[in-house]
This record gives sequence, structure tokens and C-alpha cells, in this order.
Amino acid sequence: MKTLEIAKSSLEKKGYLDIETPDIDYVKEIQKLKKEKNAVLLAHYYQIDEIQEIADFVGDSLALAQKAAKTDADMIVFAGVHFMAETAKILNPTKKVVLPDLLAGCSLADSCPPDRFSEFKKQHPDHLVVTYINCSAEIKALSDYVCTSSNARKIIDSIPQDQPVIFAPDRNLGAYLNKETGRNMLLWDGACIVHEAFSMEKLLNLFKEHPDAELIAHPESEAHMLKVAKYIGSTAGLLNYVKNSDKKKFIVATEAGILFQMMQENPEKHIIPAPAEEDNTCACSECAFMKMNTLKKLYLCLKHELPSIEVDAELAKKAIIPINRMLELSK
Ligand code: 13P
Ligand code: SF4
Repeated sequence: MKTLEIAKSSLEKKGYLDIETPDIDYVKEIQKLKKEKNAVLLAHYYQIDEIQEIADFVGDSLALAQKAAKTDADMIVFAGVHFMAETAKILNPTKKVVLPDLLAGCSLADSCPPDRFSEFKKQHPDHLVVTYINCSAEIKALSDYVCTSSNARKIIDSIPQDQPVIFAPDRNLGAYLNKETGRNMLLWDGACIVHEAFSMEKLLNLFKEHPDAELIAHPESEAHMLKVAKYIGSTAGLLNYVKNSDKKKFIVATEAGILFQMMQENPEKHIIPAPAEEDNTCACSECAFMKMNTLKKLYLCLKHELPSIEVDAELAKKAIIPINRMLELSK
């Protein structure tokens, strides 16, 4: 037998793969296991609808970190991507934190390798480092402050204007913040593949069809998108904007998972996903990492408490400092 087959059959014997489980009612089983294990299910707005529906809490990156910091559950099941579950583990070193698919990473976090970033930081010793939460624990450990798209402005404004700052890893969010705060932060050259996939040409055609629509965008989007957007904000910010606006039609430039909540909250409004360059099927942008989590994987990870997130204790001690600074400033 080949190595992969041996590994697969041993995992099957242990019941981990549960390949033959077609009759399981995953929703019912997940609810049951959550209760038995005193587990909390936290989900990001980009998760598939079925996961958002059964989550105990659905939120943006900041709200999820705040929830993770406060939970009294014994286990955190994180329906999101690796850096989010890792942040939850850093905040809860003694709790079990599981992620349905360990391969659910993030292109933005990957665009900032710790060895290169450490070198970059050494070249600018007089700079403070503010990093977007979409980065690894190693990068957080090299940072002075962590921020998300909903509190970045507040975090940066808390630093004296004449203090030089490095902002990483998202160049689009960084450039937007430089414009908003009047600073000249040094930007790391990273990006999210999903938010850089929108097509201006297709967007202009969409506007011809819907001249009464407003474009709203996540700040990870490129400058030309942000320039024409009526509102720029985090996923929670975009949801609030649509809920509180008198307008009836919106083109939404962020990952398509947000449409589930947006349409549920605003059944009378017309919500259109901003078109992506390559997409000819659903005409929207999906994060392949976020979509790796499924109900079946969620059930299996709750049942077997695997894959669990582990963070080296020394690393966690350093990484929690800038995370706690962010949480303190966000109260
Ligand atoms: P927010 O939910 O904080 O807006 O972040 C969006 C995102 O890209 C998460 O990966
Ligand atoms: Fe990362 Fe972009 Fe996916 Fe968010 S949408 S998890 S930033 S790749």
C-alpha cells in the first residue's frame, strides 16, 4: 500500500475521516456535540450560509477576537481561517481551539513571511509596527499594535503623529489609512487575492444597468475601487451601512459570504456582488480559504477535537501584547 493510502486507512480506522457517513444530520449532531463539550462556535461573515446559520456568534475579525477573549466555553470551534483561530488560541492558551480545515489559510497573511518582515523591521529601527490582524503569530510577535479594518483608524490615531510607523501586511488598507490619517506609514507590499480581483470594467457595465446603486467596499480593495466607493468599511461596517441607509440598491465589493447576512437583514433592498475579473459563473468574489470549511468538517472537528491549533508558549507571550493593546483601545 502507498504511504498516503496507509495514512488514510489508519485515520479511517480511528474514525477521524468518517468517509461513510451519508446519513448524518450534521446540523443536529453539531448542536448536540456543542452542548456536550461546552463548545462555542464562532463564525466569520465569509463562511458558507449553513455555517453562519448554526453559529453561536457571527462577526467581523474584531468582534470575533473580542468574543474569543471573553468566552467561558471549554472549546472554541473557529469557523474562519487559520490566523483567526490562532488569535483565539493566543487569547485562550488553556482552552482547546479547533479549526475545521487546517489548510484554511489566507493569501494576505502568507504575503508577509516572518524572516523577511523581521529584516524589513531591522532596517527601520525607529518605526513602531502596526499590523493588520490578518497575519501569523510570528508577525504579531514582531508588532507593537494589532488592528482590524474596523479599528485601524483609532489604533493609528492613538500613536503620536510624528512617530514613524510601519504598516503591514496589506498595502491597500495601508494606503487607504495613510490618506485618512494624513500619515506616511511605510507599507508592507502584501494583498488579499479576493479583494484585488474586482474588475473595474465589469463594475462600470454594472453601473450602466444600475445607475441608482451605491458602491460600498472593504478597505482591502484596490485604490481605484475605493475612490468610487460611497462607503468604505469592515464587514460589520458594510452590514451596518446597508441596514441604516435609505438607499435601496448596493453593489458590494467584498467576499460574497457577506451577502447572506446582508440579504437576510435587508430583504427589501437590492444587493449586488461587485464583479470579479476572472469569474464567469456566480459573478462574485469568493475566498477559497474561507470556503474550505464545511458542515461535515465542522462536525468531524467537534467530534474528534481535531485539528487543534497550537501556538508555542514563548511566541504566544509576545504575540498577545499587541493584541491586548488593540482590545484595550477598542473598548
Ligand atoms: P473584517 O471581517 O475584519 O472586515 O475582515 C475581512 C477579512 O478579510 C477577513 O479575512
Ligand atoms: Fe485572507 Fe482575503 Fe480570504 Fe480574508 S478574504 S481570509 S484577507 S484571502
